Formats: sequence, C-alpha cells, structure tokens
Amino acid sequence: VAILFLSETDPVDEWAAALARALPGEDVRTGPAGIDGASVEFAVAWRPPAGALAALPNLRAVFSLGAGVDHVLGDPGLPANLPVVRLIDPDLTRQMTEWVVMNVLRHHRAMPDYAAQQAEGLWREIAVPPARERRVGIMGLGVLGGAAATALVSFGFALAAWVRSRRPWPLGELFAGQEGLGPFLARTDILVCLLPLTAETRGILDGRAFAALPPGAAVINAARGGHLVEADLIAALESGKLSAATLDVFADEPLPPPHPFWRHPRITVTPHVAAVTRPECAAREIAANIRRCRAGGPMRGTVDRRRGY
Ligand SMILES: NC(=O)c1ccc[n+]([C@@H]2O[C@H](COP(=O)([O-])OP(=O)(O)OC[C@H]3O[C@@H](n4cnc5c(N)ncnc54)[C@H](OP(=O)(O)O)[C@@H]3O)[C@@H](O)[C@H]2O)c1
Repeated sequence: VAILFLSETDPVDEWAAALARALPGEDVRTGPAGIDGASVEFAVAWRPPAGALAALPNLRAVFSLGAGVDHVLGDPGLPANLPVVRLIDPDLTRQMTEWVVMNVLRHHRAMPDYAAQQAEGLWREIAVPPARERRVGIMGLGVLGGAAATALVSFGFALAAWVRSRRPWPLGELFAGQEGLGPFLARTDILVCLLPLTAETRGILDGRAFAALPPGAAVINAARGGHLVEADLIAALESGKLSAATLDVFADEPLPPPHPFWRHPRITVTPHVAAVTRPECAAREIAANIRRCRAGGPMRGTVDRRRGY
C-alpha cells in the first residue's frame, strides 16, 4: 500500500477514485481496517481516529483533507516528527473568497435587517455608508484571508488585517500580535475570522474581543467553532453591542437542533460549507506534493507543528 485514505465522514469511493486518477500506478487504499500498517507511505486524512497514524510506522507524511490541521494535531499519539501537510487548493480558496465576499456584502448592505423588515412587511430604507467608510477587518491573512482581502479591496472597503508576524501589506492596515489586537478590533465594523485553530487562537472571539469592537459591529466566522465563545456572542447580540453574526463553523458539528443559534434572529448559520474540499481538485494538489516528497523536495503546505499551523 502506498497511500491510505482515512476519513469517516467523506465519500470514500469518490476520494479513492480521485486519488487513483491523480496518482496513476499507485496503490490507493481506504482504511484503516484490513491494512498492513507498515506498508503505508502516505496518509490522506480527515479527523483520523486517535492513534490511527501512530499505527503506520513507515509513514512519510499525512495530508489533511482541508486547509486546517487542528483535527490531525489534536491526536495525542501523533508521531513526533511526522510531517503534517495542510491543503492549499485554488478551488478551496475561490470558494472561501465567494463566501466571505457574499457575507461581508450582506452585512455591509444591511441584509439581516432587511430580512427582519421583510418578515414584518416593512418598506423602509436603512442608511448604509459608502464602502470606503466601512471598516472590514480580517483575522488571519494566510492563503484564505489573503485571497478574501484581495477580492474585498476591489469594492473599496477600508481594510485591515491581524496576523502574527508584522510585514508590509499594500491593501490596508496590518496589525500584529497581542498588542495589535485591541487597536485592530477598535477600528473594525465587520470582523471576519480566518485564523487557524491553535492554542493561541482558541476562544479568541470572546466577550473581551466583542467589547473592543465598535458598537453595532458584525462578526463573521468561517474558521473553526473553537475560535468562538458561544455564550459571549449571544450576550453581545442581546446587549446590542453586536448587530449580527454569520457563522459557518461550530464547536459541535452538526449544530444540534436545540442550539439557540438556529433560531436567533441576529445569527445566520451555514453548515460548514464556506469552502468544501472537492476530491478531484484536492487529489491533484496532494499528488503534486507526493511527487515533490519523492523527489526529495519540500511539500507545499507543510505545517510548523510547534506553531500549530
Ligand atoms: N469553513 C470552512 O469551510 C473552512 C474551509 C477551509 C479552511 N477553514 C479554516 O480557515 C483557516 C485558515 O486557513 P488558511 O489556509 O488561510 O491558513 P494559513 O495560510 O495558515 O494562514 C493563517 C493566518 O493566520 C494568522 N495567525 C495564526 N495564528 C495567529 C495568531 N496567534 N495571531 C494572529 N494571527 C495568527 C497567520 O499569521 P502570519 O501570516 O503572521 O503567519 C496567517 O496569516 C484554516 O485553518 C481552517 O480552520 C475553514
């Protein structure tokens, strides 16, 4: 076996076929049941069962089915020096850009308020500032945040981003590190979270962050449910501090039916679909990395395991 596909939630047959097409001549299997662990060279995984990767002693790398790797790094038995590679895929990036632009525009143009007005049969204009006066702030300016920023700047929004490491950024104002967080939030009317979930970013969308935003700000989370302190969001919406939120990701997925987010008038829910990995596109990227690895070169998207992304 060369390549082992490990996921309990993704369409296994579609994935196996896409990987086989992208890697002609390779032995692609789905598992983990019935596989000789020692023969596996690469794993392609989404939420692998704890210990599953440790049972593959000759593994050269594990590829995440998504851009995030929190679901792999969370395995306490993950072999210490195993390269973990996230997915960088232009198709995924395009989908995320669409979803973020759509939702920033929705909040900018007061669509949550118009939906509420429609429910009441109310014909009333809501004043909206020009885009250059609408301060959009993106947390995380990596592959996905960077592409979303490039698209948003074309509408003329006043853009800012928050990152870990300072550098020049021509599209707007860049804030970095813990000391940059407060000033970044204070100037942000529409906040978009596109951070990886790490020890440092877990729970970052909390009451303190919401208090630092200007009154009436909107929050968009397309990153991970673990970034958001759910009770703090409800409290900030109830108090009127925040005007609305759009959420694609949740601590508990699928979002359980009794969850208050489903029926909250100021919250829009999408079921973790901002950017969905398409096997055909992702398999091409994974195959290119396998070829790079076999040629002894660096793989694209290898994460820094100490940083967590
Ligand atoms: N909802 C969905 O459908 C969906 C789909 C795909 C991905 N996602 C989520 O999107 C996330 C981002 O993906 P990506 O490919 O854009 O990641 P990426 O390229 O690794 O970029 C991560 C960005 O976050 C910043 N960052 C990380 N830790 C930080 C910290 N402690 N403080 C400030 N900034 C920090 C990084 O700063 P530096 O630039 O300074 O390093 C970088 O700009 C993924 O991890 C995943 O969770 C969601």
